[in-house]
Amino acid sequence: MHLPLAVLPLLAATSVAKVHHPRREPCAKLLDRDVCIIGGGSSGTYAAVQLAEKGHSVAVIERQDHLGGHAVTYTDPDTGKPINMGVILFHDIPIVRDYFGLLGVELGPADASGGAITQYFDFTTGAAVPGFELPDQETLGAALAKYGTILQERYPDISLAYNLPDPVPEELVRPYAEFIEEHGLQAIVNLVNSIAGGNGNLWERPALFGIKVFSPMLLAAFNKGFINAASGDNRDLYRAAEKRLGDDNVILSSTVTKVERNSKGVKVTVDTPEGKVTCKGKKLLVAIPPTTESLKTIKIKLTEGESRLFRQFKGVLYGSAVVTNAGFNDSTALSNIGTDNPYNLMSLPGTYSYSGESGTNKVRAYYGGTESNIGLTEEEIKALITGELDNLERAGTIGEGDTEFVFFVNHSPYHVHVDSETVAGGFYKELYEVEGKTNTFWTGAAFVDQDSSLIWSWSEEYLVPLIVDSLKK
Ligand SMILES: Cc1cc2nc3c(=O)[nH]c(=O)nc-3n(C[C@H](O)[C@H](O)[C@H](O)COP(=O)(O)OP(=O)(O)OC[C@H]3O[C@@H](n4cnc5c(N)ncnc54)[C@H](O)[C@@H]3O)c2cc1C
Ligand SMILES: *[C@@H]1O[C@H](CO)[C@@H](O)[C@H](O)[C@H]1NC(C)=O
Repeated sequence: MHLPLAVLPLLAATSVAKVHHPRREPCAKLLDRDVCIIGGGSSGTYAAVQLAEKGHSVAVIERQDHLGGHAVTYTDPDTGKPINMGVILFHDIPIVRDYFGLLGVELGPADASGGAITQYFDFTTGAAVPGFELPDQETLGAALAKYGTILQERYPDISLAYNLPDPVPEELVRPYAEFIEEHGLQAIVNLVNSIAGGNGNLWERPALFGIKVFSPMLLAAFNKGFINAASGDNRDLYRAAEKRLGDDNVILSSTVTKVERNSKGVKVTVDTPEGKVTCKGKKLLVAIPPTTESLKTIKIKLTEGESRLFRQFKGVLYGSAVVTNAGFNDSTALSNIGTDNPYNLMSLPGTYSYSGESGTNKVRAYYGGTESNIGLTEEEIKALITGELDNLERAGTIGEGDTEFVFFVNHSPYHVHVDSETVAGGFYKELYEVEGKTNTFWTGAAFVDQDSSLIWSWSEEYLVPLIVDSLKK
């Protein structure tokens, strides 16, 4: 999920809590656990905490030196202000409140009304687009209501997981743009595109993915208002999870060197800075993106069934950066549109938006691209961003200044999806049938949605009970 600039919260300027990093004991060589979990982002951490709550032993194996995955924070060195550069908002639903409550992390309202007023420019030229106009509030409101009604009537179960009717309705397989046009919903395109930032070219993809990204549950969340960590730093949730799980159960900075699975159990071998660790488990939970490229990083030998499914998955380019540029007024926000593209959608790859962090002289940039841009290097992406800011300067949209990068993260592969024939062929029905086979479970955004609140809801309703059940056998 990516939020339109107009609803991005104004993060309260708070002091950053001092985090106490206890010295890690050298890891035990062999960990005997009910569940070995690979990936300590949103989905893996949630499952770990809930399984532990239910009395099961777990170990989370994470590549980075902290849990949290896409929940990344840049702390402005000048003001001490934490700026969420990944996950920003959570739905105000019991499951989110319970999870934060369990971990003792204070929640606050995520102010959806604040933020700078967004202005629209074509970043490839740096200039405004003649004739571009947003729909008025009344037209937008009516289109949103109609969209909500259509989804509620036709696809009430679509928000969590990919619970699709069998056979998959034809309109879900055809492009999202056709769905929008056939129902006369053109007025929502600009809004969806800002929320759907990071999903590449959603409009050409099966309508299913557009509906998942801009779902009935997200519409409901908009009406209710979002919440996030009261400190302004969503990584607090993951710091608390790390503490609750305990050092012995969180294996950080790890490189998986071997995954063995058979009918008796699983064994994951990991290199860490403290030496080799082996997690011997009854079950394995894989919580990294299930693309072929990502799965190579854990050296897992897939079964024929897994491989046939997972090799269909494709991700897109998405990431964020913080830049400084003396010409950019940090009380303003710019959104990218296209001069000649349908609906004035921005060109990809490119930056979705530049959003000033008022009082810090820092500017947040969210960049992205399609499936074919996923291989862009950090240098290429930085050159793209710098080039856009130069265009904006040349067109007189912003003042004079050089672009410096103070933070950069690449979240790819993002929005892991499949193509239309694969959707039509019943892919998502088969996908959930891999759960539990070879003592292995799978989770993450590709199985639910690119939305933590929904991932946790699905875990609570479906995945965790399934794992608990399997441990009884
Ligand atoms: C810029 C941005 C803004 C977003 N905003 C929001 C928002 O406001 N609200 C929201 O709900 N969601 C938001 N999201 C969506 C967010 O991606 C999901 O909510 C969630 O992070 C997906 O969870 P996941 O567990 O599938 O993946 P991740 O959180 O990415 O977790 C995967 C984990 O696996 C680890 N890993 C990968 N490879 C290995 C390996 N070989 N060995 C060990 N570990 C490995 C990774 O380091 C990572 O920690 C945003 C995402 C981005 C990028
Ligand atoms: C920056 O933008 C704000 C909001 O539009 C405006 O009030 C302010 O005057 C601008 N500052 C400069 C230096 O242009």
